[in-house]
Amino acid sequence: MSSESAITVTVPPALAKIIAETLSPIPADQMEADAPNGLSLPLDGLSVWTDLVEEMRSVFARHDHVRVRGVTHLPGGRVLMALAHTLGRRFMTYGDGKVVKVFSMSPWSRDLAHAGAEGFFHTDLNASPSPPALTGIQCVHPDPGAPRFGYNRVVRLPDLLAELTRRGASEAVRFLTDAEVEMANERSPTIWKSKIVDGGIVRFHPETIRAACRRRGTKPPDDILYTIGDACVAASCPISLGTGDVLLFSNHRTLHYRSECSVRFVRYPLVFEARQINVLHVTDERPHA
Ligand SMILES: [Fe+2]
Repeated sequence: MSSESAITVTVPPALAKIIAETLSPIPADQMEADAPNGLSLPLDGLSVWTDLVEEMRSVFARHDHVRVRGVTHLPGGRVLMALAHTLGRRFMTYGDGKVVKVFSMSPWSRDLAHAGAEGFFHTDLNASPSPPALTGIQCVHPDPGAPRFGYNRVVRLPDLLAELTRRGASEAVRFLTDAEVEMANERSPTIWKSKIVDGGIVRFHPETIRAACRRRGTKPPDDILYTIGDACVAASCPISLGTGDVLLFSNHRTLHYRSECSVRFVRYPLVFEARQINVLHVTDERPHA
């Protein structure tokens, strides 16, 4: 299991200032327009930046995820894009050409991504032909109840399989590595069918597996899904993100999770403090050591 300290790279204040000052004059719109073909940034030529990139790549190579602390959040997710560009090349866009999404928790939302209920361990876009290689998150506002609420977990696939094997959960291991499993995104009419771990990519989301079972009229494998979720918790550690902190993880080799979120009402019902993050996806990963 990767510890919180082992996956953390801390940026000194002087470098954080250089990063913010170098990116500030670049409009976020311009970065988003360039991002699908890969970014080229004035930071890339600076030796202090190169040192940070090397440290991030070294942590990522060992753990498949890295948390970067000490950087600031610039509007439009510019720092997040710059850091994600050190590990990945081309960025994904969402229909309207946007690269950076904003997720604001709301006690009044029914959308899973914005509601405060505990999430499931999953990979992003698991029922699509080409799930993104990397996911990046930057904390804009931490959960008001942090660190008890609103934390993440990331589990590496080898650590999950080792934990399941240690527990003698051979059926769950077979389900992940051998079985042909159907997965359906609620918003798509097609059903994806493959092994969950296939061609070096893990695709997993309990809700998409349950949705495919509902469409087929079959019984969902709830016991196995529970066993996998429980082993994911045991094989990972909570990761809290403070303001500006960035978490980058492989969406091909890890599963991730977000805990229950809290809300602090300033004036009920519409004025409240809640977790807000920027999220982006990168199509392909740079080769790393
Ligand atoms: Fe996710």
